[in-house]
Amino acid sequence: MKDTKNFPALKNDNLLRAARGEPVDRVPVWVMRQAGRYLPEFQEVRKQHDFFTICRTPELACEVTMQPLRRFDLDASIIFSDILVIPQALGMTVEMHAGVGPVFPEPLKTPADLAKLTPEGAVGRLTYVGDAITMMRHMLEGRVPLIGFTGAPWTLMGYMIEGGGSKTMAKSKVWLTDYPEDSKKLLTMLTDAIVDYLEMQVKAGAQLLQIFESSAEHLSKDDFLKWAVPHIKDIRDKLTERLKQQSIPTVPMTLFAKGAGHSLKEQATLGYDVIGLDWTVDPVEARKEVGPNITLQGNLDPQDMYKTPEEVRTLTTEMVRKFGKERYIANLGHGITPQTPIVSMETLVEAVHNAL
Ligand code: CP3
Repeated sequence: MKDTKNFPALKNDNLLRAARGEPVDRVPVWVMRQAGRYLPEFQEVRKQHDFFTICRTPELACEVTMQPLRRFDLDASIIFSDILVIPQALGMTVEMHAGVGPVFPEPLKTPADLAKLTPEGAVGRLTYVGDAITMMRHMLEGRVPLIGFTGAPWTLMGYMIEGGGSKTMAKSKVWLTDYPEDSKKLLTMLTDAIVDYLEMQVKAGAQLLQIFESSAEHLSKDDFLKWAVPHIKDIRDKLTERLKQQSIPTVPMTLFAKGAGHSLKEQATLGYDVIGLDWTVDPVEARKEVGPNITLQGNLDPQDMYKTPEEVRTLTTEMVRKFGKERYIANLGHGITPQTPIVSMETLVEAVHNAL
């Protein structure tokens, strides 16, 4: 039933070409959170189903993954899920409250709570993501590549300790200072679960993998290099080794460490093919930092999407011209936000394709 071998041939591979540094027909564009609340058809599905029920039901996950592709001439799809499915697989309860975001009723309070986590067999509790990926590859009929993703260890650790989003990450920072060994233990546990999870996604049919280190913005450069980077590197190295051992071709990988524009040189040494940029980073400066052998992705300010279509077109065109056609994937600098007008997405996609 789950056919992971006979996938339809890819018709538009510009995303993968850009990631590998090969010439493209046009600059590829996709948008973080392209399936989401700014789409009325997503809101309709969401009215009828709980957020994580959508994630866990491949038919529903595929339907919402498909929604933005029906409207916009995008060059990639990203499987509908959430980074917080890993804490769930480790035994934590996570609820998605409308208008609030994710809530963990029982966050990790002290290192003693680590004993409650269930890393054994965690990936086995995430097979629904693999099933959705495989179903989606068939449903796409080769139109565009399918991106798989995960949260990075520091970002996941933050949610597990804060119990949801946090403006300061105060509690997680106390862990780093007061319980450095237990913090390392947790980050390593997450790293191992992530490697298993990404291996499963590749086997299921994911054609590119993005690592979201969205909470990098809360760390100083020193702490980013100390607490986040070694695990991000491990994920790439261990996954590459794992796939090699099984003679499975590796897929390109993107690192999106929001707010870590201070460490682009270091990010460029971790074995990732693509580095995602937030809007605080200048494209020309970023290229100087990472050198010619890395693909850059980004980085329009999501708030620019609230401007007039003329302004969106001008800003997008300027952005694409600064990055250039080589080794570039157009995107926003973070996820699209719920009130974004549909016309801004239409304008963005069209402007990217017509900029050069
Ligand atoms: O990009 C896509 O279209 C794929 C789906 C996707 C979602 N979340 C769906 C979602 C992806 C790639 C994510 C990643 C994710 N989830 C991140 C990393 C990216 C980022 O934005 O920094 C993070 C930090 C999360 C955790 C999370 N999930 C938060 C903080 C929230 C609440 C804030 C918000 O924007 O709603 C979510 C909820 C969420 N994840 C929604 C969607 C469509 C909205 C939930 C709803 O319908 O109520």
